[in-house]
Amino acid sequence: MTMPALAIEALEAGYEPGLPIVRGASLAVQASEIVAIIGPNGAGKSSLVKAVAGLVPISRGRNLLFGHDITKTLAHRMVFEGLAFVPQTENVFVNLSVAENLELAASIVKANRRESLDPVYAMFPDLHRQRAYLAGRLSGGQRQMLAVARGLIARPKLLILDEPSAGLSPKMVDQVFSKLREVRATGVTVLLVEQNVKAALALADRAVVLVEGRERVVGKSSDLLNDHRVAELYLGGRA
Ligand SMILES: Nc1ncnc2c1ncn2[C@@H]1O[C@H](COP(=O)(O)OP(=O)(O)OP(=O)(O)O)[C@@H](O)[C@H]1O
Ligand SMILES: [Mg+2]
Repeated sequence: MTMPALAIEALEAGYEPGLPIVRGASLAVQASEIVAIIGPNGAGKSSLVKAVAGLVPISRGRNLLFGHDITKTLAHRMVFEGLAFVPQTENVFVNLSVAENLELAASIVKANRRESLDPVYAMFPDLHRQRAYLAGRLSGGQRQMLAVARGLIARPKLLILDEPSAGLSPKMVDQVFSKLREVRATGVTVLLVEQNVKAALALADRAVVLVEGRERVVGKSSDLLNDHRVAELYLGGRA
């Protein structure tokens, strides 16, 4: 057994004491996998990834990053543990330029500017070209690319994204998802929440269907595409 990149163990988390939204969820993400979390609206998908990232209080269970317990790690310390989280909204500073967004991310982790920025610009040539633009003036797709690029500045081992395709055209979704494949190819493990089930199952190696704060189905994406429970929930199919 190799050590998972992320092990979520019987996690309970929520916004008010005694009212868990994440209700005993468990999930193991293997190193260099892409895993998608899908599930109905309000299932607790965002709450689950936010709890892993230190943004929602955890009442039970634990999270291990490559075996290291990060259950109590504060959100702003997660990058130093090797975890970067890209929230669904407000994930860039719209009033700063592209370059300033990336430089700020580098300064937060006290990274050498050149060493951290150059590889990211190499992976995102469009952002390099647009580095003087205000982030708020980028297209939706490019803004999402910038959010991903910001996450990568700290050279995380695990990148977690909440609905990176939200609000994007199908063409832009393809571009962002193919960038996530490139990210994985550099050895980064990727966990993402997605509403766009077909695209998510095409991207991810494995997926988990979260219902009422717990995993209901976990499996290979190719198997889930043919799973009648997934079909009933999302793909318009019948049992
Ligand atoms: N900041 C908050 N304070 C209190 N309750 C919240 C908060 N954020 C979410 N919730 C509640 O937690 C439950 C799960 O919400 P969550 O956003 O985690 O679901 P989701 O699966 O990401 O849904 P969606 O598909 O709509 O993004 C919902 O009932 C929601 O009302
Ligand atoms: Mg959500």
